[in-house]
Amino acid sequence: MKVLALYSIKGGVGKTAAAVNLAHTAAEEGVRTLLLDLDAQGAASFYFRVRARRKSTVDRLLEDRDRVQRAIRATDYEHLDILPAHESFRRLERALDAVKKSRSRLARMLKPQRREYDLVVIDCPPTLTLVAEAVFRAADLVLVPVVPTTLSERTLDMLRREFKEQGLPRERLRAFFSLVDRRKRLHRDMLEDLPRRSKVAFCRSPIPVSSDIERMGLGREPVTRFAPQSAGALAVLELWWEVRRALGMRD
Ligand SMILES: Nc1ncnc2c1ncn2[C@@H]1O[C@H](COP(=O)(O)OP(=O)(O)O)[C@@H](O)[C@H]1O
Ligand SMILES: [Mg+2]
Repeated sequence: MKVLALYSIKGGVGKTAAAVNLAHTAAEEGVRTLLLDLDAQGAASFYFRVRARRKSTVDRLLEDRDRVQRAIRATDYEHLDILPAHESFRRLERALDAVKKSRSRLARMLKPQRREYDLVVIDCPPTLTLVAEAVFRAADLVLVPVVPTTLSERTLDMLRREFKEQGLPRERLRAFFSLVDRRKRLHRDMLEDLPRRSKVAFCRSPIPVSSDIERMGLGREPVTRFAPQSAGALAVLELWWEVRRALGMRD
């Protein structure tokens, strides 16, 4: 079982869209996938039309692995389950802090799922705290959406240093361009230059600004489902191929 985390300290960069679309794409290939919605706002759960059970609070999930099992719901798609966000996930940081071995807790929580799933996709809230540390430890690959703007380079480099300070291998960190608008000169330039300059490896497939991806909230379906031939969905597919390889999963 491999664990892929969509992470950025920034909000609105396309983490949830990527988590939802990549999870759906993987499942369509027959990869048994679990989407873990850690963001209390529950956007990923919303896209999959799934609500958390009332009893699946963060405290219970952290203390009892059987509860995790019971919190997992099926989606409308074969091979794709979700652990939906519960509103108590707002307290995730504090709840994690209160348990022993906080930093490795998430990884341990996921261990029993090895039998059931080939891939866990984590949709992260935008924080750089204990939750992020726990995610970094649980993940085989931390995938960071980068919108090609001037400040994103600094944000990405901060994350790289954070990784280093935590003693995590650099190979576990990978960026991809998100919300790319090729009509903009700055975007085209950044796409050329940043991967060369950056000490963080970049995926080759950028995700463009796409009205289809933006519309996912209306139909509450992954773009790879309702518009599989759109530029947005095809970009997701290419990104998935790179991610799959980076995770060492079979082609
Ligand atoms: N490639 C894209 N093209 C157009 N809109 C997008 C794209 N990716 C995300 N969005 C929109 O941008 C907003 C933020 O995206 P989201 O995935 O929720 O970001 P995050 O999870 O990083 O906060 C949402 O309204 C979403 O519909
Ligand atoms: Mg999100």
